[in-house]
Amino acid sequence: MSASRYVTAETTDSIATVTIDRQDRLNALNPEVIDEIEAAFASLREDDGLRAVVLTGAGDKAFVAGADIGELAKMTPRTGTAVSERGQAVLRSIETFPRPVVAAVGGYALGGGCELALACHLRVASDRAQFGLPEVGLGILPGYGGTLRLARLVGLGRALEIVLTGDMVGAERAFDIGLANLVVPHEEFRERARAFAGRIGRKAPVAVEMALRSVYAALDCPAGTAMQFEAASFGLLAATEDMREGMAAFLEKRAPKFQGR
Ligand code: COA
Repeated sequence: MSASRYVTAETTDSIATVTIDRQDRLNALNPEVIDEIEAAFASLREDDGLRAVVLTGAGDKAFVAGADIGELAKMTPRTGTAVSERGQAVLRSIETFPRPVVAAVGGYALGGGCELALACHLRVASDRAQFGLPEVGLGILPGYGGTLRLARLVGLGRALEIVLTGDMVGAERAFDIGLANLVVPHEEFRERARAFAGRIGRKAPVAVEMALRSVYAALDCPAGTAMQFEAASFGLLAATEDMREGMAAFLEKRAPKFQGR
């Protein structure tokens, strides 16, 4: 358990749950919350036994209803760039986290909150979830990497519609367009997100990490380089005890016991 004002991290059965709790502001991201999210993930990086992370917002109403508009209202052009770069860097630290990160979205995931969910590797949505990027209605744009990540995830036309109209997208449509991986009854969304993370957590940890890296590397580099990276990762995994264990378990018709090495 980490001690901080707005963000807690608790690990059970090798799965951490990181909770953003600032409910009087629908868990909106002020600079302190951003710092605490970064610190929580930095501390989880040190945990070798960790298998997956679930990121969620406290309460029933919101995952995160955006960056704190009271804070944003003070921006100047110079500080605005810094605010965007800071948010981008912290969300990037989630995207590059070496274990799978699953967003458990139980309500509003708007603006920076939607971008935070997009920086996670997977999203489990309650049937009450509402995603959206309302920034253009405030005279700004999604500045935490959301323009890029949304278009990659749901395609250009849908991303442009969501970014330019600012309209909210309900859970069902979010699932239809690939924004949510799973939609579940509201009462179960955290538990189901943990179960989803746990399913991945039971796979070979180094293979999961390298698969994550390979998929993301392919987004950012030429195809030939991405293929080389994939092949090199494939070769490296052949050196792991977990590869031998996974294949032996299959051949012996038993469940594998992965050690993460
Ligand atoms: N920043 C700062 N405060 C926020 C916030 C945000 N992004 N989102 C919600 N809050 C605050 C509200 O101002 C309100 O504070 P108050 O109790 O002092 O009035 C409190 O959280 C509860 O929100 P409220 O608006 O009363 O809830 P609601 O159910 O009527 O509406 C939303 C919910 C999400 C539709 C509405 O809060 C909203 O539109 N929020 C802003 C979303 C947004 O534009 N985010 C992108 C920011 S870049």
